[in-house]
Amino acid sequence: MQGSFYYASPTRIISGLGAKERAGQEARDAGGTKALIVTDKGVLNAGLVDEVIDSLRKAGLGVVIYDKVETNPVLSMVDEGHQLYRSEGCDILVAVGGGSSIDLAKAIGVLTNNPGPLVQYEGADKIPHPISYLIAIPTAAGTGAEVTFSALITDPDRHYKISIRSFYLAPRVAILDPGMLKTLPSHIAAMTGMDSLTHAIEAYVSTSASPITDLLAFEAINISAASLERFVADPSNPSAASLMQLACAYAGMAFANARLGNVHAMAHPLGGHFNLHHGLACAILLPRVIDFNLNSSPHKYAKIALAMGQQVDEDLSLESAKSASQAIYSLLETLNLPTKLGELGVTTDKIPVIARDAVTTGIHGTNPRLTDFGDFVRLYEACM
Ligand SMILES: [Fe+2]
Repeated sequence: MQGSFYYASPTRIISGLGAKERAGQEARDAGGTKALIVTDKGVLNAGLVDEVIDSLRKAGLGVVIYDKVETNPVLSMVDEGHQLYRSEGCDILVAVGGGSSIDLAKAIGVLTNNPGPLVQYEGADKIPHPISYLIAIPTAAGTGAEVTFSALITDPDRHYKISIRSFYLAPRVAILDPGMLKTLPSHIAAMTGMDSLTHAIEAYVSTSASPITDLLAFEAINISAASLERFVADPSNPSAASLMQLACAYAGMAFANARLGNVHAMAHPLGGHFNLHHGLACAILLPRVIDFNLNSSPHKYAKIALAMGQQVDEDLSLESAKSASQAIYSLLETLNLPTKLGELGVTTDKIPVIARDAVTTGIHGTNPRLTDFGDFVRLYEACM
């Protein structure tokens, strides 16, 4: 008999080519009169925000833009964005961008309806009141932030990513328009795609997985195996982009409920200390963590290997599971991604510090194999 579980997915999803034009109607229906668009300069200069602005204005809303988002957004950006929201009299948030913009919009939303500072809400279920109405329009297929209940904001003084988790952080609407991915550079598509695949794999083998998250996570793995290479070759291909957006949302819905594992526990300190791209960190860590975990969930890893195109035996044995990491290494080669942290400026003298921070994240609490500080040190060393 299946054990008890809890599953939620509060975000309404609107998908399709041209779906971004629904932003205005959605904002108006929600009662918005003036929107703060949270985005970054790259997305703005690529013209991706133009049609969203048009849509909002046509629906009668005023528009203010905060475009200072950068990778691994920091606490000062949350305060800046929040002050702009207040001083301009905004009443709705529209995030247009990757996970950084969506996470920042979530954090701004926390401060619009709750007293600061933001750091007091670190952890699970600490936010007293729902955030402002948030419409998320992703321009990458990676973090799944458009459907998740968490936000990561970096505290630069501590070189530490603050994780805030609450159902109140879920965007009310996610608009998945494959046209929004058309200017994504291939190398970013590759790294963000590996982040999404890592979400799917970690949610699938998580100790908090449920039948629903298994469905979502495994389908996300299937779609990624079939479509990621095609998407990276040409992110403007609407068919591949649409599939990867879907895989990303499936993986997001899965890990928002099932949580993650060692790859993410270890990736966050690499972002905090070395500003390493999150998806790239995940890509390098993933095959080593798979090998570390194999004995704890061989059947599921064999199914992952099968989905990734490896030959496996009918029993889905441990022997078959061993080819899962090989499938990831092959994919990294195909996507032209590096496989060693040492090539990216990560130095061995920092390993004790980042291993300690990996423990502090607590994310390994749902990793299928129990992991301690010494394990993290050895895993980082294996990635050098
Ligand atoms: Fe991630």
